Amino acid sequence: MKFIGRRRWASAGVAFATAVATVGFALSAPAGAAPGCRVDYTASNWGGGGFGGKVKITNLGDALSSWTLKFTFPGSQKVTQGWSATWSQSGANVTATSMSWNGNLGTGASTEIGFNGSYTGSSNVDPTSFTLNGTVCTGQQPPTSTTTTTTTSGNPNPGNRVDNPYVGAKMYVNPDWSAKAAAEPGGSRVANQPTGVWIDRIAAITGTVDSRGIEGHLDEAVRQAAGAPLVIQFVIYNLPGRDCSALASNGELKPDEIGRYKTEYIDPIAAIFAKPAYKDLRIVTTVEIDSLPNLVTNVTPRPTAVPACDVMKANGNYVTGVGYALAKLGAVPNVYNYLDIGHHGWIGWDDNFGPTAELLFQAANASGSTKANVHGFIANTANYGALKEPYFTIEDSVNGTSVRQSKWVDWNRYVDEQSYAQAFRQRAVQAGFDPGVGMLIDTSRNGWGGAARPAGPGPKTSVDAYVNGGRLDRRIHTGNWCNQAGAGLGERPKAAPAAGIDAYVWMKPPGESDGASKEIPNNEGKGADKMCDPAYTGNIRNGNNMSGALPDAPLSGKWFSAQFQELMRNAYPAL
Ligand code: BGC
Repeated sequence: MKFIGRRRWASAGVAFATAVATVGFALSAPAGAAPGCRVDYTASNWGGGGFGGKVKITNLGDALSSWTLKFTFPGSQKVTQGWSATWSQSGANVTATSMSWNGNLGTGASTEIGFNGSYTGSSNVDPTSFTLNGTVCTGQQPPTSTTTTTTTSGNPNPGNRVDNPYVGAKMYVNPDWSAKAAAEPGGSRVANQPTGVWIDRIAAITGTVDSRGIEGHLDEAVRQAAGAPLVIQFVIYNLPGRDCSALASNGELKPDEIGRYKTEYIDPIAAIFAKPAYKDLRIVTTVEIDSLPNLVTNVTPRPTAVPACDVMKANGNYVTGVGYALAKLGAVPNVYNYLDIGHHGWIGWDDNFGPTAELLFQAANASGSTKANVHGFIANTANYGALKEPYFTIEDSVNGTSVRQSKWVDWNRYVDEQSYAQAFRQRAVQAGFDPGVGMLIDTSRNGWGGAARPAGPGPKTSVDAYVNGGRLDRRIHTGNWCNQAGAGLGERPKAAPAAGIDAYVWMKPPGESDGASKEIPNNEGKGADKMCDPAYTGNIRNGNNMSGALPDAPLSGKWFSAQFQELMRNAYPAL
């Protein structure tokens, strides 16, 4: 598995921070245009003082080439993050200006923009008056703005399912992984942890040299359950043209082999999951890591584009395949599907965040699937992003310079996985997902303990000194993903650890390589990715930095003893 592709896209990522002083009057209607507009405003309250706002603007006047929308919140509301416009707020007054791609608004044309917001007190009253390029919008208003109040505790897809499958359940310990961990000196301290079972090729369904097959795992899970609720976690990872932005985990299916994906991979898995013997297990699936995020960041015209990702975007097979997997697996009433959302150092930029949520929603409704097949989302699968950065926040600044301007943060909106996952949950609901969706965070290798772990904030001499001195994540760059030197085991798997988070999980089995440091012949379709070579000096997707990878790594998925030892040494909490 291997991602990357971050990188803020031109200047869009800086919009919110700088907008307040600079925009507002710059853009106005072309002289002589007969004005007129209609605005449909919809707010969805999440509970806890958070809400999402959708604003549909319809131009009822002459065609516009750019626009500025203004409105005033009646209460304490604040826009915390916006998309599809440059958003700013001064007191209660909100301004949203068009982007280069949605400024053109013909007569009668509409565009939709949105934001996440917060409010205090018990009611979130909608704004009632809007102006577009200075003209009050008097076009037919919606009957009344629909404010739907939702909470975070709903169950998005009932069936036999519970809201959070991890609550009150045991977790499956994979005996194949456990034996490898236990065979390492000191390994017995972690060998009893639950880890994900990766179905990374068709052969893995029935079993390979590395692992028993799915039925073998499920039979053992029934035994471990001994009548109690038990969660067993599978990673569904075999899309056509898999891992398009990297080589380490390229798969066995060629970009156009969607037919084989359906009939030789998903169908047999669904048939096994549906066997009556397994009906009492809570089967959690992580669905196709890296696939959809790659279609957002690593495609033309982004500077980070990779030809293989352009192919997968054009042929639609990631979207078709994810929809198919969700539909088939979701039809089994005790399966809980969690869609992959990359990690904060990839999707945390404004121009990646909303588009990822929208694309996921599209995939959730593809191939006969509906959003009801999505129980939640998983962040940081097989990645290294710190769970929480205790010594700096995105709000901090040094001598008036925001941490967002530090080299490390580079205008990202998030500094750690937990804040990213919680915000993404809200954005996904805004995109149309059920308000009851829950998040998982892979904490298998993001502990960042050991001697190099900072004990407090960095010095306030410069924003870079402050961030670099205080950050737990010791990587060279957040785009680095392969066998990272200095990493440690993270939080142990845990149910319901924080608001909106269903569980911390170890989806990546610690000790299994992310990719080979050099070419190793194999029949799994896996290539050699430079990002796994410690001598590699990088590419645009990691800001042209060193890879930070450990040397002498075996193929992705194979046991890497030296890495396992290092992960134990740098565990946090310590073992
Ligand atoms: C590999 C898979 C492996 C998984 C878990 C991925 O990077 O491509 O083959 O099963 O990691 O270790």
